Amino acid sequence: MIKQPIDTFEPNYDEDKVPIFKVPNPLEMFCGERVNTIEEWEGRRRPELLDFFTHNVYGKVPGELKFSSFRIVEQSNSAIEGKAKRKQVELIFKKNKRTLSFNILIYLPKNVSRAPVFMGYNFYGNHTVTNDSKIIISDAWTVNNESLGITNNRLDEHSRGVCASRWQVESVIDAGFGLATLFYGEIDPDKNDMTDGIHPLLYTRHQQRPKSDEWGSIAAWSWGLSRVMDYLEKDLDIDATKVVLFGHSRLGKTSLWASATDQRFAAVISNNSGCGGAALSKRKYGETIGRINHRFPHWFCNNFKTYSNNEEQLPVDQHELLALIAPRPLYVASAEEDRWADPRGEYLSAYYATSVYRLYNKKGVDSIDMLSVNQPIQNRLAYHIRKGKHDVTEYDWEQYIKWARMQLFE
Ligand code: GCU
Repeated sequence: MIKQPIDTFEPNYDEDKVPIFKVPNPLEMFCGERVNTIEEWEGRRRPELLDFFTHNVYGKVPGELKFSSFRIVEQSNSAIEGKAKRKQVELIFKKNKRTLSFNILIYLPKNVSRAPVFMGYNFYGNHTVTNDSKIIISDAWTVNNESLGITNNRLDEHSRGVCASRWQVESVIDAGFGLATLFYGEIDPDKNDMTDGIHPLLYTRHQQRPKSDEWGSIAAWSWGLSRVMDYLEKDLDIDATKVVLFGHSRLGKTSLWASATDQRFAAVISNNSGCGGAALSKRKYGETIGRINHRFPHWFCNNFKTYSNNEEQLPVDQHELLALIAPRPLYVASAEEDRWADPRGEYLSAYYATSVYRLYNKKGVDSIDMLSVNQPIQNRLAYHIRKGKHDVTEYDWEQYIKWARMQLFE
């Protein structure tokens, strides 16, 4: 019999067909022991969970590599209608006779001396986040998107400013925050080729692909965010203790993993991150582990393939990824029409992670019943589901800015 490929089946969008499953308890060790205190959580349970996600889901970074130098490529004192400073900073990495570099675009409000910042990857290059003609266009390989004028896997003038609605730079600046963003393709091009991007800089001799428990692309992109943090800590215009990591979709998965592995990030926002991000895998609603591993074989480590169509065997679920971020502020956001990312699974994940926030006396979401559309709960662990589709909108940013101010300054 010929086996039918997984992506030819209809995904499940029927709540009645969601399997009955036991949600792993974040406050219970794999051996069954209960965790009752912050010391037990931080000393034993958190490390065992982090270890599981590292070796079986995202993959471990196989060595240390810090930037060997950085260069301010361009800067100006009059960006965004004169309200902001702009810097474009290149970080340079050298190893294994190879060099990799990437460009961070930074806007900072002129009226704040050490600014808190939102930071996150963009999908199609720094020049897409505003119409600013001074932003350098990346020459890295990119996924095509014809509706944005991106063809031949290259970026050019046609796409300047095309993702501006997803960034709301002016509102961020007006709220007294800076923005630091970079193109994820400069760290690792988003294709199933592990000979480009950052991976080969950390290969051993003759290695062509990561080992089964070594980093996929999400872990590589997360690594990149930590290296940007290394730079932000050196930039005196920035308050590196107040960096709010933001990510949409695959880059939301990335931001969650980056803040689980690097506790310097003060807060994190997961926008529509779905499968392998905030959504519970064991619900098998919309995108599943089998589908994501089939379509994006390079995102996770190879060991994660063990759980394709085999979610029952997973000893963890994604609420425990969220719990790894506790007690730092965490915002999970869904969109009503984004069924592929399983909004209810994202909500439940926040709900089941709340017990760990409670351990720290911090609030999350208390009701197992889903929230109504456009009715956010903005606690330390926050959630909203908004009207509309898979995207980042002005509404989302209004919530994030309001919540980040509350969490970082009140
Ligand atoms: C695909 C993928 C999702 C991902 C999304 C995105 O839809 O299946 O897992 O989140 O792309 O990054 O936009």
